Amino acid sequence: MIIIDDILLKDTTLRQLNKKIAQIFVNGKFCKDPKLAKAQDFFLSGLDKPGNTANRLGFSVTNANVEQIPGLNTLGISAVRIDYAPYGQNPPHTHPRATEILVVLEGTLYVGFVTSNQLNNTLIAKVLNKGDVFVFPIGMIHFQFNIGKTNAVAIAALSSQFPGVITIANTVFGANPPINPDFLAKAFQLDVNVVKELEAKF
Ligand SMILES: *[C@@H]1O[C@H](CO)[C@@H](O)[C@H](O)[C@H]1NC(C)=O
Repeated sequence: MIIIDDILLKDTTLRQLNKKIAQIFVNGKFCKDPKLAKAQDFFLSGLDKPGNTANRLGFSVTNANVEQIPGLNTLGISAVRIDYAPYGQNPPHTHPRATEILVVLEGTLYVGFVTSNQLNNTLIAKVLNKGDVFVFPIGMIHFQFNIGKTNAVAIAALSSQFPGVITIANTVFGANPPINPDFLAKAFQLDVNVVKELEAKF
């Protein structure tokens, strides 16, 4: 009888614990028992393969973050391969959790970021060639544009195991449900029909 009570108690505690865990949000993942870690947890292959750039913007991002490499959990670092078709672009976007350092492996990119309002929204931009490195500080809206006639490739490292990405046009004009077009027309000083056209696109 005592044993049964004990089991019941444990069962209730476990259920309460499960309930609690279901309410906890972790920016990252739970850690694996380090004794069970394997090389595979720290490994990814395939970054030699070009991504598919046959899309509206002509670019492709291949991720190497904690989703692909579990061993990155809590380590505050990740990488991407970015492919650009000729005149392809990585449109204005920001990473909420990471600074980015980008290395051009092939091609010619026009890259830049814009400083905060306090710094007068200054455009900090440069043309990069093979071997050049550029930094996009955390939070800054930034972009890359392949201005060459050939494909371009870059590898970037980001200071988060899961940097996140916010593409400006998608969030503003592609919000779901859409942001009130009259509001956006005033915010962006545009005709409301232009806003509606943009909202239909994103
Ligand atoms: C921003 O612009 C104002 C007005 O032109 C100027 O006084 C200020 O020095 C500028 N600030 C920076 C950080 O460039």
